[in-house]
Amino acid sequence: MSELSNCKILVTGGAGFIGSHICDKLLEKGAEVVCLDNFITGHLRNIEHNQSNPKFKLIEGDIRDIETCKKAMIGCTHVCHQAALGSVPRSVKDPLTTNEINITGTLNIFFSAYEAGIKRIVFASSSSCYGDEPNLPKVESKIGIPLSPYAITKFSGELYARIFNSLYGMEMIGLRYFNVFGPRQDPEGMYAAVIPKFVQSLIKEKSPEINGDGSYSRDFTFIENVVEMNILALTTTSKEATGLNYNVACGQRLTILDLFLEIRLLLTDFNLSIAKIKPIHVDPRPGDIPHSLASIDLAKDLIGYNPKIMPKEGLSLAIKWYWENLQ
Ligand SMILES: NC(=O)c1ccc[n+]([C@@H]2O[C@H](COP(=O)([O-])OP(=O)(O)OC[C@H]3O[C@@H](n4cnc5c(N)ncnc54)[C@H](O)[C@@H]3O)[C@@H](O)[C@H]2O)c1
Repeated sequence: MSELSNCKILVTGGAGFIGSHICDKLLEKGAEVVCLDNFITGHLRNIEHNQSNPKFKLIEGDIRDIETCKKAMIGCTHVCHQAALGSVPRSVKDPLTTNEINITGTLNIFFSAYEAGIKRIVFASSSSCYGDEPNLPKVESKIGIPLSPYAITKFSGELYARIFNSLYGMEMIGLRYFNVFGPRQDPEGMYAAVIPKFVQSLIKEKSPEINGDGSYSRDFTFIENVVEMNILALTTTSKEATGLNYNVACGQRLTILDLFLEIRLLLTDFNLSIAKIKPIHVDPRPGDIPHSLASIDLAKDLIGYNPKIMPKEGLSLAIKWYWENLQ
């Protein structure tokens, strides 16, 4: 029997890309799952395969509403907080909504969990917390000044977590995700992430846009590694592992241009004419960090994290999924 089989876990943002994969894994491990989502960027299609599972409950609601948060906590043993309005450019365009959801909503979740007597909260933070810190690889103890409203909201979640740990004795674990990708990540809309955007354009035989010259680099992290880290963080019994923030990444980086070339190469297995498509270079985006690469030593040492799927293998799995699901 898994250590999660007696647990009831609230997954906020459970209908989103990352949250829905976490719900799947928790159910597979025998946990009860309550998924709270307002579908602002999530989709029913990500979770509908779980709707007939008696251990799965969907609450359509908003984390900005404290009463909704309180109701969602009833009977739960843990919280896995993924709900947020993602995207740096969206936060530059609309900092108010990003602030309401990511700061007020996060505080609502933390405080209602405290009131419900829940001790362990694992929450999604972000590599954007590193801001203007120039050194690579990024180590958890050294962050700079945030470069976007989104980064401020994620850093604020970490600061609140610290307070909930020190003042209320809660076991808070923050996960600084580095460019997560994989099946179900939404390619639609102006705020889509780079991998699904490139894949969708290429499948439609259109030129994807690259912001800048393509030399910016990222530590792309396949979804399965992120899910694994959430499970480890929810279940760790090590006292010294709580009250901290961890990089969740692979510890490798790819430039955006190399990413484009790799995706194009993988897609030519499905359609040879994609090989001829060239990218279009447009202006760099304000608020973007030029380079991002994580040290994953802390997560390895304290939680036992060990990413199993490296970026190139992950890309080939993701592309197969997009080819089968975007056609
Ligand atoms: N994808 C990445 O590369 C990445 C990187 C760093 C951090 N993160 C963080 O990981 C988490 C999950 O991101 P994702 O990529 O799965 O994004 P996503 O947009 O697919 O998922 C977010 C989910 O939260 C829900 N949500 C948003 N506002 C809500 C609200 N007010 N009330 C209830 N539900 C709400 C959305 O409907 C969606 O289902 C977010 O906190 C995000 O900031 C993601």
